[in-house]
Amino acid sequence: MRAGVLTGGGDCPGLNAVIRAVARRLLEEGWEVVGVREGWRGLVEPKLEPLGPREISGILPRGGTIIGTSRTNPYKVEGGVDRALATIRDNGLNALVAIGGEDTLGVASRLNSEHDVRVVGVPKTIDNDLSGTDYTFGFDTAVYIATEAIDRLHTTAESHNRVMVVEVMGRHVGWIAVMSGIAGGADMILIPEQPVTVERACEEIRHRHHRGKDFSIVVVSEGYELRYESGETRTVAQEQRDQFGHVRLGGVGEVLAHEIEERTGYETRVTVLGHVQRGGTPTPRDRVLATRYGLKAADLVHERKFGQMAALHGDEIVDVSLQEATAELKKVPREWFDVASAFFG
Ligand code: F6P
Repeated sequence: MRAGVLTGGGDCPGLNAVIRAVARRLLEEGWEVVGVREGWRGLVEPKLEPLGPREISGILPRGGTIIGTSRTNPYKVEGGVDRALATIRDNGLNALVAIGGEDTLGVASRLNSEHDVRVVGVPKTIDNDLSGTDYTFGFDTAVYIATEAIDRLHTTAESHNRVMVVEVMGRHVGWIAVMSGIAGGADMILIPEQPVTVERACEEIRHRHHRGKDFSIVVVSEGYELRYESGETRTVAQEQRDQFGHVRLGGVGEVLAHEIEERTGYETRVTVLGHVQRGGTPTPRDRVLATRYGLKAADLVHERKFGQMAALHGDEIVDVSLQEATAELKKVPREWFDVASAFFG
C-alpha cells in the first residue's frame, strides 16, 4: 500500500513534525510513503519523491516543509483535476494525507466527495481559522513570535513616548492579534470580527495618555477594515488574487499609524511582522500538536476513514468530516475580544 503526503497553502511551523509522524506510523504499518511536492501542484504536474526513514530523520524541529508548498488549486488549472486523478491512479496512491488550511482542505473535501479520492486532512494554519478544531498547529508559534515582538516594542515605545502599531497576520480573522495582544498587554487591538472605529481607537489612546501613560501599543490584524464613525470603511489590500480568490493583505498598519498620529498628535511608528510569524522552529506545543495530528491522520488512513480530518476537541484528538471543517471560517468570538478590551485605554 502506498500513501502520498502533501502540504499546501502558506507554510507554517510544525509541518515537518506532521510529515514525520504520518510517515513514521505508516512505515511501521508496512505502507510505502511518498511526498507529493508543492501541494496540489505535485499531483497536477506531477512531482513525487520517496519519504523514507532517511528523509524524515531530524525534521521534527525544522520550520517550513521539506516537501514544499504552493497555492495551486487544481480546480483553477486547465485539466487540473483530471491530471491529479491520473497521477493518483498512475502512481498507485491508495491514500492521500493533505496537510493544509481551508483552501487545501477544501480541495481535499471536493476531491473526496466528487471523485472518491481517498484523502484525510490535517488542520494547518497560523491563522487558526479552521472550524471543526479548537486549534490548528502553527498558531501557537505565530502567537509566541508576535508576543515577543510586542514585548520588545514596549520597551522602545516607553523610552520614546511613542505609539507603536504592530501589524500581525491572520487573514480575515483576528486570532493572532487577540491572543498576542492579550499576552503582550496591548492597549488597543483591531480585528476584522469586532470592528472598532478609528475614532474610538484614538479616543482610547488619548484616554490612556491622559492618565499618565506616555506610550501605547496598538495591535492590528492585517484583515481589519478601517472603519469610521461616519460609517465609511477602507480595506487595505492588493488587487491581485491567488487561485483561491484571496487578495494579498498587508499595509493596514501603515495607514492606521498615519491616522493615529494625525488625530492624536502622538508620534507613531509601525512594525509589520509579516512572514517572520511563519518562519523558524515550532514551539513545543505546536510540535506536540502536530505530532498527535500526524499519528491520527496515519491511523485514519490505516482504518480507511477517508474524507475525515484530525481535530483537537478540548485535549482529545478526534476526527471530523472535511466538509464540516471547511464549511465556514472560525472567527474570534465576542468573549475573547472582551478579555482583550478589558485592558484598552
Ligand atoms: O494563511 C496564512 C497567511 O500567513 C496569512 O496570515 C497571510 O495573509 C497569508 O498567508 C500570506 O500569504 P503569502 O505567504 O502568500 O504572502
